[in-house]
Amino acid sequence: MKRPLGITVHRQIMESQLLHRQATGELSGLLTELIVAAKIISAEVNMAGLADVIGVSGKTNIQGEEVQKLDEFSNNTIKRRMARSGYICVMTSEEEDDIIPVKEGFEGKYTLAFDPLDGSSNIDVNVSIGTIFSIHRRLSPSGQGDINDLLQPGSELVAAGYMIYGSSTMLVYSTGEGVHGFTLDPSVGEFFLSHESILMPEQSKYFSVNEGNYNYWKPEMRNYVDYLKAIDQESGRPYSLRYIGSLVADFHRNLIAGGIFLYPCDTKNKCKPYGKLRLLYEASPMAFLAEQAGGLAVTDDGTRILDIKPTELHQRVPLVIGSRSEVEMAQQFLTGCNS
Ligand code: AHG
Ligand code: MN
Ligand code: MN
Repeated sequence: MKRPLGITVHRQIMESQLLHRQATGELSGLLTELIVAAKIISAEVNMAGLADVIGVSGKTNIQGEEVQKLDEFSNNTIKRRMARSGYICVMTSEEEDDIIPVKEGFEGKYTLAFDPLDGSSNIDVNVSIGTIFSIHRRLSPSGQGDINDLLQPGSELVAAGYMIYGSSTMLVYSTGEGVHGFTLDPSVGEFFLSHESILMPEQSKYFSVNEGNYNYWKPEMRNYVDYLKAIDQESGRPYSLRYIGSLVADFHRNLIAGGIFLYPCDTKNKCKPYGKLRLLYEASPMAFLAEQAGGLAVTDDGTRILDIKPTELHQRVPLVIGSRSEVEMAQQFLTGCNS
């Protein structure tokens, strides 16, 4: 059923909930609270140059990375709002070492993993950044949730999505019934449906990877990227290289225009043997969206991202994500079948 463009997120969520008579409205309530947080962060991002939020906070997070002020603002905005929403029993954030409890008496039936601000290195240079979230159903019976409620594979996700703070602010999410994009109209403070049932183009135009790490990659990965750059008009190669350094922005462009994104493991940093991206709140939610949009996401040894059972909150995984045919081609190189 093609909906009239311009319906609000709330209407779209309620309609999809109404289609499922057993819906309690809790998931739509959770998403509605997340959307309020997104609007607050978006307003702050758009003022970053003027307000005192540009720059570093002087702290480093569990990733060993400098925490930018806007990271901290975004993290606190989401953490505080969701802890008292009544829909969540436990949370984890890129910016927090341990699990985040919720307000006593406000425990709900879902869990939330989030990257409050993705693309931090781009904050000070006015390049698109975003927020990534993933939602599971709790496993523990009641009360405060625990780490096992969070360490679930992406195949069990109830919903996942991102906000991208770019030339416009968009919310792109899925509850397992396709991927839908909503654009924020700042004049009325509402997200309106702008991209219904997004499907990732099969043919890639772009590849997105930090080629600066080329000499640190496995030979199979180097062979695959060399293949993408080879001249072969019939297959549309060489693809154009587009790499923004914000996963949300690079993924969003590939989702809409067609492309493959790679963050391979590399030997550059001994304490990050599996690459830079985190499973719970970067690779897994993006893999859920990719598959909902007809695409695929694997690690650089060909393992499907959504099949991975996490063992740690901030566990890193290599990521190869794009249209199904493109990723299957990459898998041939990465598993040595196509050298
Ligand atoms: P975050 O800012 O949340 O730490 O994420 C940054 C990630 C991801 O957004 C991006 O794809 C990647 O870092 C870029 O890493 P490099 O700068 O090493 O290429
Ligand atoms: Mn990130
Ligand atoms: Mn981040």
